[in-house]
Amino acid sequence: MHPILKVHQACKSFQQGNHKVKVLERLDLEVNKGEKVAILGPSGCGKSTLLSLLAGLDNPGSGTVKIDGTDLANINEDQLSQTRSEKLGIVFQQYHLMRNLTAVENVGLPLEILGTADFAVRARTALKEVGLDHRATHFPSEMSGGECQRVAIARALVTRPSLILADEPSGNLDQKTGDEVMDILFNLCREHTISLVLVTHNRELADRCDRSLLLNEGALEDLAR
Ligand SMILES: Nc1ncnc2c1ncn2[C@@H]1O[C@H](COP(=O)(O)OP(=O)(O)O)[C@@H](O)[C@H]1O
Ligand SMILES: [Mg+2]
Repeated sequence: MHPILKVHQACKSFQQGNHKVKVLERLDLEVNKGEKVAILGPSGCGKSTLLSLLAGLDNPGSGTVKIDGTDLANINEDQLSQTRSEKLGIVFQQYHLMRNLTAVENVGLPLEILGTADFAVRARTALKEVGLDHRATHFPSEMSGGECQRVAIARALVTRPSLILADEPSGNLDQKTGDEVMDILFNLCREHTISLVLVTHNRELADRCDRSLLLNEGALEDLAR
């Protein structure tokens, strides 16, 4: 059985003014089905850059990123967006909800894009899973930060992806709300056997994952507990 995610020797640099900044250097990562992996590291070390590569939103300068065996560099734009919609769910620190859509419309959007006929019913079910059935017709501006992040989690899970990528998902929330939101995310990933790559600053959250890795000088190293 191949891993859900396999990164081999990925490199990424950015041009900043007249010098080139190496952010990721020969980075390797494998994540198996249902496995939860935390990625830690100081601000600016390249965590979000790494997630962009995993999400196929940006290309590595060299090296490969495979999702469920598919090399993201070997498929065309249409296939890439299809793979992204089917296999991946992404949760951002800032929720990234569409502000002109209600909660249930936001959740249903990925399915609508995939052309799923019963998207409205499935969106409603996903919203129920994060405990927000009663907020279905509310707009993001009418919900709290914790509620918005639960909507974003429902949206990430509605397609039943293989892998969720989460970039500091509780970074904008107070401790108690953040813990509640993370409980929901961890529980739903476990229930549906979805792998999770979680970027966080919080060691306690990282310790709830199967493995913790430190992004240091462009590569990942195992972090002892
Ligand atoms: N599009 C970009 N252009 C130039 N530099 C970038 C770009 N994206 C990120 N960087 C640089 O890459 C480094 C890593 O950024 P980032 O991945 O956002 O770090 P983190 O998420 O760990 O805080 C930083 O030095 C940042 O300035
Ligand atoms: Mg970041």
